Amino acid sequence: MNLFQLVEKFPSEYNLKIKPRPYFNHSVEFKDKFTIIERTEMLEKVGLNVFAFPAEMVTGCDLLSDSGTTSMTNKQWAALHLGDEAYGSNKGYFKLGEQIRGTFGEGFFNNLSEGISNAFIFHQGRAAENALFSLLGKTGSELIIPSNGHFDTTRANMEANSIEALNLFSSFLHDKTSSFCFKGNMDIIRLKKLLERKNSKVPLVYLTITNNTGGGQPVSIKNIQEATEISHSYGIPLFLDACRFAENAWFIKKYEPGYQNKDIKDIVREMFSWVDGFTISFKKDGLVNMGGGLFLKDKGLFIKNYPHFPDAITSHQINTEGHPTYGGLSGRDIMTLVEGLKQIIKEEYLTYRINQVRKFGEEMHRVGVPVLMPIGGHAIYLDVDKFFEDTQMRPEDFGGVALTAVLLAGFGHRACELGYFAFGRYDKKKHKDIFPSFNFVRFAVPRLRYEKQDLSSVAEAVKVLHEHRSKIPGVKVIYGRDLSLRHFKAKFEFKNNFSL
Ligand code: F0G
Repeated sequence: MNLFQLVEKFPSEYNLKIKPRPYFNHSVEFKDKFTIIERTEMLEKVGLNVFAFPAEMVTGCDLLSDSGTTSMTNKQWAALHLGDEAYGSNKGYFKLGEQIRGTFGEGFFNNLSEGISNAFIFHQGRAAENALFSLLGKTGSELIIPSNGHFDTTRANMEANSIEALNLFSSFLHDKTSSFCFKGNMDIIRLKKLLERKNSKVPLVYLTITNNTGGGQPVSIKNIQEATEISHSYGIPLFLDACRFAENAWFIKKYEPGYQNKDIKDIVREMFSWVDGFTISFKKDGLVNMGGGLFLKDKGLFIKNYPHFPDAITSHQINTEGHPTYGGLSGRDIMTLVEGLKQIIKEEYLTYRINQVRKFGEEMHRVGVPVLMPIGGHAIYLDVDKFFEDTQMRPEDFGGVALTAVLLAGFGHRACELGYFAFGRYDKKKHKDIFPSFNFVRFAVPRLRYEKQDLSSVAEAVKVLHEHRSKIPGVKVIYGRDLSLRHFKAKFEFKNNFSL
């Protein structure tokens, strides 16, 4: 009997419940030790604001963001050494052009050497957004940009340029009992109504894939197609905020009828074939620690409507970031990005990645911690209202902020409030808090960084806090309640008058 005949007699590796990771650790970092007392003192010193807490003292998992926190592959570290630091038209620029065309479609990257380019490299996503919206804002008219869910800096960049940022969340996202797989979709009926009445005020329609503000939920190809067709019928271009494009494509392959036998690569191409441009932070699905971009489709509706934009953005880029052939990046950053974009669309990577996040979320769900279901691509979204439902926590006590502070001080894990505080605001004139529709604490999972054991320890800590939720007091905002982007700047202290 040969070896293969023998092995064939056993159940296949594909049927085993636990599979090995599709990678192994190449280099690791040991953490320093800090006690609960040290963490507590530090957190009080920084006004319970987890953003200001030194990362070095996060002794557990740092789930503040999946942005720029990826562990790079050995091929990326090797590529770093191949970086060409020439001041103009470095080698990586041409490789990146080739890669962007290969990943997203031929029309998205004309090299500068061939004339004015339609591809703009920035040091991160928000710099690309700033370029786009500051130039659109200069057109002077009253503008509205609808989205399936604007990210906080995207909204802030629009508002800073007097553009109204409007969220048209899917109604499924509000339905806690729904298991619909594409809760990140845009509400097409509301988009239609908006465009019927106000199309002259809409310079473009935006779809965030996956929908970070909307629970990290994916968007279907059908929704991209419908949103584009409606927008185009009014002569309005459609853009993607494409930070997590590969994760979104994986969900399409898994759940959207007709896509099960397609390659991720082809699904990505199809997603981008509908749109007229996109902004992206490569710090997510670029698999790198820094990078962003703005890409306008050659002969797309946006360039048609705004033919002067490529030149205007080039000037903006030169004034703020650098020559268009490197933007805000060093040549070595560009080389790591080229490698990152090659890796990110590999199905074995995406399957592992998304299942890791899903299992982490399901672990919390199983033990009764209320999390948004189904689990999205990059993070777990804990429903703060439900978490504190049977306690005396009120919206103005900012329970999500309190929860992140106790989790960090008591267990060493860092998560982030994305709810009543981060997305809410304070109306100074009326002395009133304005609350957004969702109240989440987000546990974002960095790419290729943690193992199951790490995430299970977070799930266990959150379970313990859930069991003791009535002992968690609310917080008082002692600085920054009325500032914009206040969650990055505010300071808090626990309320004393909570009867626990
Ligand atoms: N768009 C989305 C959907 C994002 O999630 C982010 C960043 C940006 C744009 C801005 O990109 O950070 O490179 O300037 N999200 C991070 C997060 C910060 O934690 O979700 P950037």
